[in-house]
Amino acid sequence: MDWNSNLITNLEWSSEITHISGKQKVADEIAAKVKDGDILGVGSGSTAYLALVAIARRIKEEKLNVKAIPTSLELSMFCSKLGVPLTTLYENKPDWLFDGADEVDPNNSLIKGRGGAMFKEKLLISSSVVSYIIVDDSKMVPKLGTNFPVPVEVFPQALLYVEKELQQLGANNILLRPAKGKDGPVITENGNMILDCKFDEIGSTMERDIKSITGVIESGLFIGYNLQILMASNT
Ligand code: 5RP
Repeated sequence: MDWNSNLITNLEWSSEITHISGKQKVADEIAAKVKDGDILGVGSGSTAYLALVAIARRIKEEKLNVKAIPTSLELSMFCSKLGVPLTTLYENKPDWLFDGADEVDPNNSLIKGRGGAMFKEKLLISSSVVSYIIVDDSKMVPKLGTNFPVPVEVFPQALLYVEKELQQLGANNILLRPAKGKDGPVITENGNMILDCKFDEIGSTMERDIKSITGVIESGLFIGYNLQILMASNT
């Protein structure tokens, strides 16, 4: 059978990328870190995408032997389109990872998961020796929860049970994340749903407390991880 298709080569990045020149500079810095033989964790979001494009350019120009482990199906398709070879966590441990974030507090703790990929993102950040998180000023907050709710990925049958338990932990506004442009909830790549939860206070044990609820797959809280935050300028 003829295996030629334009489905992936025609794929376009459609999300708006704000403050592109500052992010591009950091994306190029990330690409400059790549060494022959590296296994890279590839984060989700528009900022990580810019870094992936810069890395793909180096791989092509310098014929580098680099492999990527993407944090989402979307990113794995972009890796294929850009000519970045893929591998898996079954075969390799990432040497380092790059990703974006939705909020960063003064302790470098994060909220992630606007794209709903926080389970795989956390798995890869936990597996990587070093993780670089690219953000701009707009992501810096005095405390987590300032601009974004905490996303919690939940096994669908457990939604109501988990909702009650999250309320016990102090969530005062919990929304089932709707799918963009159509009726019904977002379904993650793992077949689960996302509850976006507002808390007045997010203490140091909150990530662990949420994770210990039966039916919770993962949350978008990243508290106390070994992360290097790279700031992109907004100008
Ligand atoms: C997806 C994420 C993204 O990294 C986060 O939403 C940042 O995205 P962007 O770089 O587009 O602002 O956590 O789950």
